[in-house]
Amino acid sequence: MKPILLFDSGVGGLSVLARVRERRPDLPLVYAADNAGFPYGTKSEGEIGARVPALLGRLVERYRPAMAVIACNTASTIALASVRAALDVPVVGTVPAIKLAAERSVSRVIGVLGTEATVRQPYVDRLAAEFAADCTVIRHGSARLVELAEAKLRGATVDGAAVAGELAGLLGHPDGGRIDTVVLACTHFPLLADELAAAAPRPLAFVDGAQGIARRVAYLLSDTAAASVPPQGRAVFTRGGAAVDALAPALHSFGLDTIETL
Ligand code: DGL
Repeated sequence: MKPILLFDSGVGGLSVLARVRERRPDLPLVYAADNAGFPYGTKSEGEIGARVPALLGRLVERYRPAMAVIACNTASTIALASVRAALDVPVVGTVPAIKLAAERSVSRVIGVLGTEATVRQPYVDRLAAEFAADCTVIRHGSARLVELAEAKLRGATVDGAAVAGELAGLLGHPDGGRIDTVVLACTHFPLLADELAAAAPRPLAFVDGAQGIARRVAYLLSDTAAASVPPQGRAVFTRGGAAVDALAPALHSFGLDTIETL
């Protein structure tokens, strides 16, 4: 049975994988992390635009998936169109859940917390114009939260003050005091959901796109029969080493028992 390939720069896409697995626990999954290229959020559009389609091409050739999910906002907002053009399988992307936030916000002031690369993308301008035209959309980029999520999954204790500091960066923008809904526009950030909620100085709703992606995947594969044998979960990294070894327990908790290097 063909697997679903999920792709991110690191462990962030596991927040998407978890929702996909909830909907279709019967499908085999390959989780690919480009840890040799990590982090994406501080890279240029040119670097991401060249790297991601080429790498996904190699992964599709190797694992022959039924579909590819770019479980990364940075890669999707920069390279989704070129990945689709380069691959001969359906591609589902991850883009900031601004539509969902606009549906929920009462104050009509929305925060978008993503990587530095994501928050500057014209793709985000278009989402804000199309789905949140009557809202003030405040964007903030954080590389530190990405690092903290990676460290958490390697077993480190998360520094609550550091999380609070990153959130304060968003809330401290002019008008930031009126934000009631925060889009977690980086797939790493839902992995810090508890820490973000604890760090919030007042009640904030955090939203992300993972449920929507899982719905889309299930819809596209609705004709695919359930596997008769328990599905495999495989994690593949672009570079091996001690940092990957340290992730093994977390990967196991997400159902990924085979770990290999591309
Ligand atoms: N998880 C990625 C995202 O959704 C990016 C993290 C990074 O490599 O900076 O944007």
